[in-house]
Amino acid sequence: MKTHFNIKGFLTVIGTLFLSVISFSQDAAEAVSAAPVAQEIPMYEKFGLTSTELFILMVSFTILLVIVVVSISSSTSKIADYTAKNKSKINGKGLLLILGLMVAPSAFSAEPLERPTFEIPFTDTAFWIVLSFDIILIMIILYMVGIMNGLLYAIYPKKPRKSIWKRWQKSLVDATPIESEASILMDHDYDGIKELDNNLPPWWKYGFYVTIVWAVGYLAYYHLLGGVLQEEEYLIEMAEGEAAVAQYKLDHPELVTADNVEQLTDAQSISKGRSIFTEFCVTCHMEGGAGGAGPNLTDNYWIYGGDIKGVFKTISEGADNGMKAWNTQLNGLEIQAVASYVMQLDPILPPLGQEPKGDNFIEKIIE
Ligand code: HEC
Repeated sequence: MKTHFNIKGFLTVIGTLFLSVISFSQDAAEAVSAAPVAQEIPMYEKFGLTSTELFILMVSFTILLVIVVVSISSSTSKIADYTAKNKSKINGKGLLLILGLMVAPSAFSAEPLERPTFEIPFTDTAFWIVLSFDIILIMIILYMVGIMNGLLYAIYPKKPRKSIWKRWQKSLVDATPIESEASILMDHDYDGIKELDNNLPPWWKYGFYVTIVWAVGYLAYYHLLGGVLQEEEYLIEMAEGEAAVAQYKLDHPELVTADNVEQLTDAQSISKGRSIFTEFCVTCHMEGGAGGAGPNLTDNYWIYGGDIKGVFKTISEGADNGMKAWNTQLNGLEIQAVASYVMQLDPILPPLGQEPKGDNFIEKIIE
C-alpha cells in the first residue's frame, strides 16, 4: 500500500521548467524593448506592482506550492507505511505531524517581502506560464489530499463519512439506493415490467415550485403593476432606433449626396429651405425664384437638371455665370432643404418672372 512518489524526479522537472520560464521571460523582455509599438498594459501594472514584485510573488507562491506537494507526498507515504504496519492503533501524534507539515509553508509565505531595488523582467507570457504551472501544482495537491483522505479513512473506519459531493448528489436526487429498492416496488407486474415508487427528485420538485412563484411574480409585475409588455417594449425600442437613425443623419449631413438625395415635402423642411433661400439666394434668383441675375427657378425650363438630384447638384457644385458651389457653405442637409424648397415653388411666368432659359425639362423627360 506504499504510495511511490519520486521527489527527486519531480523537483528536476520543476527546476527545468522554471529556468526555461525565466530565460524565456528575459528573451521576451528584450524583444519588447526593441519594438515599443502600441504595448498593452503589462500584467504587473494591472496588479499595481512592479515586474520584480510580481516575479517574486509568483515565484514564492510556486515554491510554496512545491513545498506543499513535497510535504504532502512524504506525509502521505508515511501514513501509508504506518497504516500498512500498524492498522489498529494510530494516535493523534501522526496527524499533528501531517498538519504541522502543511502549516509550515504557509508561515513561510507570511514573511514580508522586501521592496527590491533591482529590476527583474517578468512578461505577461511568463506570468501565464507560471500561473498555469501553479494551477497544475494545485491540481496535484488536490489529488494528493484525496489520496490522504482515503488513507485516513482506512485508519478511522468507524466514522464512515460520505463526501460532500455524494451528500449533495443525494440531496439533489433523493433516490432510494438499489439495496432497498424492494421497499418501494409497487405491486403490479406486467410481463416482468415493474414500477418503483421513487420520490420526485428534489431538484425537479423545487425547480417546479420556483416556476410557480415566478409565474405569480410575472403576472403581478407585468399584468397588474404595469410592467412593460413585449409589444410595447418592441415599439419603444423601434422608436429609440428611429431616433438614433435620425440623430445619426443629423450628425452626418455629408451622407446626403446628389446620388441619394430625396425631395422633402414636410412643412418644417420647406420652411427651413425658404429661410436658407432668403438668406443666400434671393439676391440673384429674386423673391419666389422669379429670376434676376440668376435664372427663373419656377418654370419648367432648366439649364441643368430639373429634378431633385439635378437641382441638388447645381446648388452643391455650382455652375457658370456666378452661380457658386455652395457645398463649402451649406451642408448636405441644408442643400437638400433648399433644393426641396426650389422644387415646389409656384410658377411665376413672364412678365412677372424672367424669360425661360435652357430646355423644357418636362418635354425632355417625355422624350
Ligand atoms: C451671385 C448670384 C447667385 C446666387 C447668390 C445664387 N445663384 Fe443660383 N444661379 C446663378 C446663375 C447666374 C445661374 C445660372 C448658371 C448658368 O447660366 O450656368 C444659377 C443657376 C442656379 C440653378 C440652376 C438653374 C437651371 O436652370 O438649371 C439653381 C437650381 C440655382 N441657381 C439655385 C440657387 C440657390 C438654391 C442659391 C442659394 C443657395 C443660389 N442659386 C444662389 C446665380 C446665383
